[in-house]
Amino acid sequence: MLRTAYSFDDLLLRPQYSSVVSRSDIDLTLEIQTEKPMRLPIFAAPMDTIMSPEMAEVVYNAGARGVMHRYCSIEEQVQAIEDSNRRRNCEVFAAVGVTGDYYERAIRLVEAGASGICVDVAHGHHTLAIKAVQNLRKHLPNLHIMAGNVATLEGFDSLAAAGATSIRVGVGGGSICSTRIQTGHGVPTLQSVFDCSQSEHDALLIADGGIKNSGDMVKALAAGADAVMIGRVLAGTRETPGDVIKNPGQGPLKVYRGMASPEAQIAWRGKYASNEGVSRTVRLKGSAAEVLFEIDKGIRSGLSYSGARNVRQLQASADFIVQTQAGARESSTHIDS
Ligand code: XMP
Repeated sequence: MLRTAYSFDDLLLRPQYSSVVSRSDIDLTLEIQTEKPMRLPIFAAPMDTIMSPEMAEVVYNAGARGVMHRYCSIEEQVQAIEDSNRRRNCEVFAAVGVTGDYYERAIRLVEAGASGICVDVAHGHHTLAIKAVQNLRKHLPNLHIMAGNVATLEGFDSLAAAGATSIRVGVGGGSICSTRIQTGHGVPTLQSVFDCSQSEHDALLIADGGIKNSGDMVKALAAGADAVMIGRVLAGTRETPGDVIKNPGQGPLKVYRGMASPEAQIAWRGKYASNEGVSRTVRLKGSAAEVLFEIDKGIRSGLSYSGARNVRQLQASADFIVQTQAGARESSTHIDS
């Protein structure tokens, strides 16, 4: 029997009695085994059109964290970590791969001040990813090791057993992903969160891919995520790397691209192998600080609608319903102009 797998827009949370009178009554704190806990459980994705030292600083000041991308030389990534951690005085994570220089890179990044390492591959339920996590855990016993991505409970359990502190959950759901088109594989991200939240391991669950707004973040947290990871929501903000593209009459743009897009691969290794992402232009948005400020308010309101004062209470009380296509239409703004 085939299972139905639900995506963000398939489900809604039923509003419940609430005694929360102010958004400040809500506590979104998440302990992540680094010096300071997160105040907003959001990670900025390790992508070359999202992460920069400027972005690391802005997300850190909002209570979130950034993961510095790995699509550059070790020296360049070390410099980006030093810039974030020394000069800007903020915690930042750093991504590595699973082959080649990944181990040396991880050690250099930790020495440079990275507060966590992210083992960052498209298919994390893989022998190379599991071995990389085991190896890093052996040599860095107290470090936050993030790993992923996985789509299934088996994948989550494999990385957790290997020693991952947190696991990115979601395969092929990202706004710039074409993995499902190219390979036929993936699971709607929200369904993966439901599935992986059944794990008996205590690794943190990070919902990653396809999150469009604070409503999707609330659904991910309610389904069992401890935190979310975002690319598209931050794409086009001032702190993202890349030039502003003039677009007379329609407003300036910036590039946002998948790290497995031909454009990104050619930029960082001069050629491309698989093609599992796309490159697009998005509107220039202003500061990531404003985006995160609005999201913070949206998540807090979301918890209040379920009568919850923290994420654990939200998960305990969440009452999901499936909406029809007409319901989904009604759920988005639908006034005729
Ligand atoms: P959003 O929806 O927030 O997704 O833009 C960001 C996440 O997408 C993943 N990612 C990719 N997945 N091909 C993929 O299949 C790609 O080229 C690619 N680049 C990024 C990644 O998990 C990120 O956090």
